[in-house]
Amino acid sequence: MAAKGRIVWVSGPAVRADGMSDAKMYETVVVGNSKLVGEVIRLTGDVAFIQVYESTSGLKPGEPVIGTGNPLSVLLGPGIIGQIYDGIQRPLKELSKVSGSFIGKGITTTPVDMTKKYHFVPTVSNGDQVEAGSVIGTVKETDLIENSIMVPPDHPGGKISNMVSEGDYNLETVLATTEKNGQTNSLKMYHRWPVRKPRPYKNRYDPTIPLITGQRVIDTFFPIAKGGTGSIPGAFGTGKTVTLHQIAKWADSQVVVYIGCGERGNEMTEVLVEFPHLKDPRSGKPLMDRTVLVANTSNMPVAAREASIYTGVTIAEYYRDMGKDVVLVADSTSRWAESLREMSGRLEEMPAEEGYPSYLASRLAEFYERAGRVRAIGSPDRDGSVTLVGAVSPSGGDFTEPVTTHTMRFIKTFWALDAKLAYSRHYPSINWMNSYSGYLGDIAKWWGENISQDWLSLRSEAYGVLQREDTLKEIVRLLGPEALPDEEKLILEVARMLKIGLLQQNSFDDVDTYCSPEKQYKLLKLLVEFYRRGQQALKEGALLSDIRAMPIVTTLLKARMDIKDNEMPKLDSLDITMKEQFKAITGVKITN
Ligand SMILES: Nc1ncnc2c1ncn2[C@@H]1O[C@H](COP(=O)(O)OP(=O)(O)O)[C@@H](O)[C@H]1O
Ligand SMILES: [Mg+2]
Repeated sequence: MAAKGRIVWVSGPAVRADGMSDAKMYETVVVGNSKLVGEVIRLTGDVAFIQVYESTSGLKPGEPVIGTGNPLSVLLGPGIIGQIYDGIQRPLKELSKVSGSFIGKGITTTPVDMTKKYHFVPTVSNGDQVEAGSVIGTVKETDLIENSIMVPPDHPGGKISNMVSEGDYNLETVLATTEKNGQTNSLKMYHRWPVRKPRPYKNRYDPTIPLITGQRVIDTFFPIAKGGTGSIPGAFGTGKTVTLHQIAKWADSQVVVYIGCGERGNEMTEVLVEFPHLKDPRSGKPLMDRTVLVANTSNMPVAAREASIYTGVTIAEYYRDMGKDVVLVADSTSRWAESLREMSGRLEEMPAEEGYPSYLASRLAEFYERAGRVRAIGSPDRDGSVTLVGAVSPSGGDFTEPVTTHTMRFIKTFWALDAKLAYSRHYPSINWMNSYSGYLGDIAKWWGENISQDWLSLRSEAYGVLQREDTLKEIVRLLGPEALPDEEKLILEVARMLKIGLLQQNSFDDVDTYCSPEKQYKLLKLLVEFYRRGQQALKEGALLSDIRAMPIVTTLLKARMDIKDNEMPKLDSLDITMKEQFKAITGVKITN
């Protein structure tokens, strides 16, 4: 029985209706005469609190509220990639076509073009048994994405019959039917899935494979794993958006889901205008051929912003289930948390810290728990991952506020942006003393096997220098650099070289914007070798001023920009040059 109630109260995006005893929690409802989309978020007796995803201006008590019987769901099928959606998967382009502006009221458009034909290649035949999650065929969704058509996760499966032959079909075509226990069910290219319910998988793997982003401070110092979670907190202008764009562009994932919750009114518009022009650097094709944008501009209703991260992560899980590595970036989760706060306030709930509802932490946990590298259900075997990265924008860069502190409990990589570094134009402004990665131990094996066995020890040695510098800085501040012995002055010098030659990375430089794991390793090794040889040279009586004056110092600082990814022998030759220059200042042979 569909619930049929009446509006009794309207406050912004929040609506209260009575006569709703047949409604269920999280059921979507049609609100008012203009048929707005809403979702039941609290039920007491026959009174339902509803968040409405569209502007409620003009909505009046007495107007009807009708239940749909269904939870808020997304449509999952070919055609999603390349789309720009609002928080409840309505295509912004289509909406603007119909209504003239970005968002019209009560407009229903389909999330993908249901009439577009895709070339379907079956991978199972009549008589085959399939189960929930099994792949029955493939279609080419975009130039970059092959979409695996799967039996929906909540489908009973069974024996395939009436399989269509290879050919061009649209989304509504019945591709095959299944028989099980005398029941017949059909399979199409798409299915629906409730956004607040994680999609099932067979098992979850430990996060042992790094997500390579090509950003040195991330990959070398604070790595994230495929299927891992990360957070980028930072004050306004410290580089959150630039970092997320770099991850979207360069990470070794096949699919990107970009959720934008506009900070300023025009910021999301910039993304909407900019993203469609970006190129996938590896294939040269448009980045949108492997990207989905979920956009919440500040003029959109807050409830849609609340839903957007669930819509985004459900789409991410769908591509994960095909066996793809998916990266979801959310910019910024603070704006999302504010939509929670606003709804909670409208419902007159008891506020917790800074007015946020007490369930802020559990909502953040529910979101980040959907990350993971998994074996998909059904056959054939497929392994895919969803990596979740959220920006946090605490006002004034205060990391003790609730969204940052709760986020820190649920993520394993923390890239703390630092306004001081940004101000001194040290980019990315990720503070190496406050940041951390919980994946370092897990992914060290990958680096050892794929790049070099000594990766972790080199990384620790370099990080040790940065830590030593951090404590020495205090002495220098009090007593001046001359108070330090030469060995410690060498540490300051090497730390400077690590900062300029390794940690800093210019996103807007053609060479520097991406750094391969090999190049990251070689730069790291050269700088650590410089440190080791410098220590040795001092022991053998060389002067610190001679070490500082060696031409190799400048060469090493610029190598990240001067030497391209395909010029690794040049980097190798720098090691020989360095050795010779050290030899010249000590006058004795330096052994490796
Ligand atoms: N890695 C980087 N390389 C070069 N410039 C950067 C980098 N990161 C940030 N910037 C500079 O900082 C500015 C602000 O960054 P942005 O990502 O928009 O900040 P936020 O999103 O934190 O407000 C950018 O416009 C750019 O000039
Ligand atoms: Mg930003």
